[in-house]
Amino acid sequence: MTSLSSRMRQLVRDLDLRRLPRHVAIIMDGNGRWATGRGLERLYGHRRGKASVKAIVELSRKIGIEYLSLYAFSSENWQRPEAEVKGLMNLLKRYATTELDRMMKNGVRLQVIGNMRKLPTDVRQALKHTVEQTKRNRDLTVILALSYSAREEIANAVKGIARKVKRGDLQPEDITEDTIASSLGTAGIPDPDLLIRTSGEVRLSNFLLWQVAYTEIYITETLWPDFREKQFIEALRQFQKRERRFGRVSGDDEPPEAVEPPDRAPLRVAR
Ligand code: FPP
Repeated sequence: MTSLSSRMRQLVRDLDLRRLPRHVAIIMDGNGRWATGRGLERLYGHRRGKASVKAIVELSRKIGIEYLSLYAFSSENWQRPEAEVKGLMNLLKRYATTELDRMMKNGVRLQVIGNMRKLPTDVRQALKHTVEQTKRNRDLTVILALSYSAREEIANAVKGIARKVKRGDLQPEDITEDTIASSLGTAGIPDPDLLIRTSGEVRLSNFLLWQVAYTEIYITETLWPDFREKQFIEALRQFQKRERRFGRVSGDDEPPEAVEPPDRAPLRVAR
C-alpha cells in the first residue's frame, strides 16, 4: 500500500488490507438520474461519473487492489441519443489521453474488453495508445468494458473454439471451463471477487456473465457520480463480512480448482 492521506487512513481503518478482493468489477449506474434530478443534461452526470472513476482507480491502487473492471459502455448503449453517445465517447477519449501520464507514474495498466471495432477511430486509437504504453505497468490493472456484451463475448469465444475443433487442433472432449475462460476478453485476468452495482438496480445487465459465477455482489442505492472513496470502502467492508463458500460447506475457505483460472499465482487473499 502506498502512502495514504490522513483522511484516507481514517476511512480505511476498519478494513483488513490483507483480505481485500483481488479483483473488483463495477457496474457504474445512475449518471443520468444524478443529472436529471438536478435539472441538468445527462452528460453532466457522466462527467461527474468520470471524477468517480478517477477517485476509485486512485484508491484501488493505493490500497493494493490488483484488478478493477469498469462497465463504461454496453453494446446496448449505442441506442442512446446521438449527442449522449458522442459526449460519452469524448469523455472516454479524453480519459485515455489525459490520464496516461498519471497511469505511467502510478503503475496503472489499462486494458479494454468489448467490441473495439464499433468505436469511432479516434477513440479507438487513443485507447490503443494508452493500452500499449501502459502494458508493462503492474500495480493496478484497470479493465474498461466498452461496447461490451457478455453474451457476445461468450459467442465469440465459442466461435474461436469451434474453429480450433474444425482445424483439428482441439478435440470436443478436451474442452474444459479453462478453454472457455481463456477464450474470453478477460483471458489471464482472475474472476472478480466483488461486483458492485450503483443506483439500486438489482441485475447484471450482460456484464461478465461467465466470470461472476462465484462473485460476491454488492448493490448500493448511491448513484455513480456520488460513489467515492467512502462508499467504496463501505463496499469493501461489507465484502469482508461475507463468507465465500463456492457452493461448499462452511469452514472450507479454499476456492475449488475449477474456479481458479489456469497458470495463475496463488491467491493473495483468504476467501
Ligand atoms: C450508466 O448510467 C453509466 C454509463 C452508461 C456510462 C458510464 C460512464 C462514465 C462513468 C463516465 C466515463 C467513464 C470513464 C471510464 C472515463 P446511466 O446513464 O444509465 O444512468 P441512469 O440509469 O440514471 O440513466
